[in-house]
Amino acid sequence: MTIVAKENGNVAAMLEECQARFKTVDRPIPEPGPNEIVVRNHAIAANPVDWKIQDYGFAIKNYPTVLGSDCCGIVVAVGESVTKFKVRDRVTCFAGVIYNNDINHGAFQSYTILRDIATTKIPDSMSFEEGSIFPMAMATSLISFMVNLGLPKPSGSITAQESGLLIWGASSSVGTSALQLAKNLGFKVFATASPAHHKTLKSLGAFEVFDYHDSAVVERIVAAAKSTGTPITLGFDAVGEGKSYKQAAYVLGASGGRGGKLVLVLPPPEDFAPDGIEISQTGAFKAFTEHADLGKWFFNDYLEKSLADGSILSAPQVEVVPGGIQTAQTALDKLKAGVSGKKLVITIDCYRH
Ligand SMILES: NC(=O)c1ccc[n+]([C@@H]2O[C@H](COP(=O)([O-])OP(=O)(O)OC[C@H]3O[C@@H](n4cnc5c(N)ncnc54)[C@H](OP(=O)(O)O)[C@@H]3O)[C@@H](O)[C@H]2O)c1
Repeated sequence: MTIVAKENGNVAAMLEECQARFKTVDRPIPEPGPNEIVVRNHAIAANPVDWKIQDYGFAIKNYPTVLGSDCCGIVVAVGESVTKFKVRDRVTCFAGVIYNNDINHGAFQSYTILRDIATTKIPDSMSFEEGSIFPMAMATSLISFMVNLGLPKPSGSITAQESGLLIWGASSSVGTSALQLAKNLGFKVFATASPAHHKTLKSLGAFEVFDYHDSAVVERIVAAAKSTGTPITLGFDAVGEGKSYKQAAYVLGASGGRGGKLVLVLPPPEDFAPDGIEISQTGAFKAFTEHADLGKWFFNDYLEKSLADGSILSAPQVEVVPGGIQTAQTALDKLKAGVSGKKLVITIDCYRH
């Protein structure tokens, strides 16, 4: 096997049809539209939605396609109306294929078209791998807090909130993003995760962390909220599997009482209607469709500043799946098998053939 630097070509992990495996192909380098940029990707992160689309076929109507939402690299072309970015900027981006079905907007290729509103400059000190892992998770958290929970945008200084906020599954990719955003909004965050991640989650801003494997976990959270005088009225279930949504709803009902609001990362069963708790579902793509002004503010302004001043860090831990674009399928298979406190990333500095 030889490794050939292929800086000028666009190599893609193509999905020819639902339930097919990725095929490595050469594609043309795309041209940006007026409000778009083209990024030469250096790191691309795998998300659960990628293998779920591959397995179940939702969201994508046009095949062949290139999947992937999170990519990080260097701007190589800018559209005529773009003012925020220039060639050679180091950026991280939420790629749009999941909602616009355009193959050129998929992350798993060397060159991706990105909308300028879905792009953030990263600090010089941040690696491409670190930069690639949070756009999808941050967009999910943004919609959960600002749209589903109706919270105001954070101002310059942090204002302490009276209510506690529960994040179920805080060591996940979405959970670590939500935790940091909630901390910046002034919430005392009550989080659940495996014990191996408790120290990290405290360092990211969690107020209290609980082991979700503990059969008394919900009672412990409710007791901790009571003893610290912080009723939990708001919650985010970043897992959405098994009984997590029921446990989260129980905590809100027992701690904050009626009127609590719980956001879910996945749709609940139809008969899930906890008494007195408002249930809603988040959607990352909404940051660039019906709430595009919010997404633009977040990606072009708030996230860039927060990464620069260190109030938002790259999390969870990066794990590179070595081998370049040809290992995109391996990365998705590995993610489907399950990860703990990690984000799987592929890098595409060279092409093996
Ligand atoms: N609606 C949307 O727009 C949207 C956007 C992004 C993601 N999602 C969905 O959100 C889910 C999470 O995505 P992700 O990328 O954040 O996943 P992930 O990082 O791959 O999730 C792995 C983590 O889940 C934690 N976990 C698993 N079961 C748990 C439980 N019962 N209680 C608490 N934590 C648990 C594990 O915690 P420990 O290691 O600590 O045990 C692990 O760290 C996926 O289903 C994804 O499809 C939806």
